[in-house]
Amino acid sequence: MEKSIKVFAPASISNVGPGFDLMGFAINNLGDEIIVRPNSQKKLRITKITGDKKTLPLDINKNTATVGILSLLNYIKTETGFDIQINKKMGIGSGLGSSAASAVAAVFAINQYLELKLSKDELVKFAMVGEKAASGSFHADNVAPSMLGGFVLIRSYDPLDIIKIDYPKSFFCSIIYPQISIKTAEARKLISKNIALRKSLNQTGNAASLMIGLMNADYNLIGRSMVDEIAEPKRASLIPCYDRIRTNALISGAINCNISGSGPSLFSFTGSKKSASSICESMVLACEEKSIKSESYISKINSKGVIELS
Ligand code: HSE
Repeated sequence: MEKSIKVFAPASISNVGPGFDLMGFAINNLGDEIIVRPNSQKKLRITKITGDKKTLPLDINKNTATVGILSLLNYIKTETGFDIQINKKMGIGSGLGSSAASAVAAVFAINQYLELKLSKDELVKFAMVGEKAASGSFHADNVAPSMLGGFVLIRSYDPLDIIKIDYPKSFFCSIIYPQISIKTAEARKLISKNIALRKSLNQTGNAASLMIGLMNADYNLIGRSMVDEIAEPKRASLIPCYDRIRTNALISGAINCNISGSGPSLFSFTGSKKSASSICESMVLACEEKSIKSESYISKINSKGVIELS
């Protein structure tokens, strides 16, 4: 039997308050595993998907994993066919970068299998094509951290310029995933195309100071800067327990609390595991009060990004 390659791409948290489409970081444990094997039919096929409750498309032109692979295969002009197995190890429509994790794992696996030696930075643009299949737009704030690990800033999309930002190594992230589904494409439609000058200034100031806070491990500045005046106010109403989750997290010691990506998950930062646990418990309670089931996770920032497992 021909060799196979198995890779894991982590989930990620994007926007991080003021960084709509520009900032994100990778997290641990949640993510997507992809197994790639060559086939003799010279065709790309999805042979199996697990963990998706049969919600993801097997059509290679619709699944973010294979759309990403197709753009890479088209670029390198190979005729090799591949069988793809996707093992989802995270919620779909959770706001934790599920479609990005599939696309990242897929293009990275092909790069490893064919020994293309494209850098992770170069692979981001192929994964972005995959991500677009699900979200309807080109954005890299989940794809880039899932690929590269750590905390990333996308300075520019044209040309693509991705910068890794230092962050406090003592950081713990508390995440609550209320069990409702939000489609990124729908949540993006809520955001105005034109932003008032005052809002734009506030957002730029917060984005810049968040970067400085992260690099200097200045928790107070990070907390003050995690404010989104553009996307979050429009999307909050999609999450029935949004206000209560934020209030509970802040009372329990979170330095701030925001929607993760397009939601419904919310996240917060704190400096100790104990505090991260209390924050999670308080956020779960907020969901229970609204009779919404939830899952919660605690994670350090994942510094590795996508990795080959075997
Ligand atoms: N920046 C994107 C958004 C992330 O907020 O729509 C979701 O994929």
